[in-house]
Amino acid sequence: MKIALGSDHAGWELKEEIKKFLSLQKVEYKDFGPYNEESVDYPDYAEKVGEAVNSGKYDRGILICGTGIGMSIAANKIKGIYAALVDNTYTALYSRKHNNSNVLVLPGRLIGKALADEIVRIWLASEYEGSRHEKRIAKIKTIEDKNI
Ligand code: RB5
Repeated sequence: MKIALGSDHAGWELKEEIKKFLSLQKVEYKDFGPYNEESVDYPDYAEKVGEAVNSGKYDRGILICGTGIGMSIAANKIKGIYAALVDNTYTALYSRKHNNSNVLVLPGRLIGKALADEIVRIWLASEYEGSRHEKRIAKIKTIEDKNI
């Protein structure tokens, strides 16, 4: 699995932790930036990571900003992106099982490193269940297609 990773300045520190965690787990990733803690605009990085996932070159993405909200809003504007803002292990699991999320968004200012690592571990290991959720995902696609 190949992961596209990005943050803003408020998510930078947690992104460094997630990079260490992914390396330990032997998960391949590319860091789309930023590469230091200087102030940046989160939509620029949501776009880079969202497009990397939408292109098919990366299987999934992880984005981190302060609250996770800006990254979620921006990433979900990109076609084909299903970004889930997650701050607990339950929604880490169900954002995959029920929603087939392909981008995980973490709130860098709200959760600690150990919880973030566990959320990433669960989210990467969990699969979409399909079945009754298919028609709901299809309806999301219909909304997306109507609004292009
Ligand atoms: C940056 O200060 C902050 O606004 C950003 O990281 C994010 O929380 C926005 O939603």
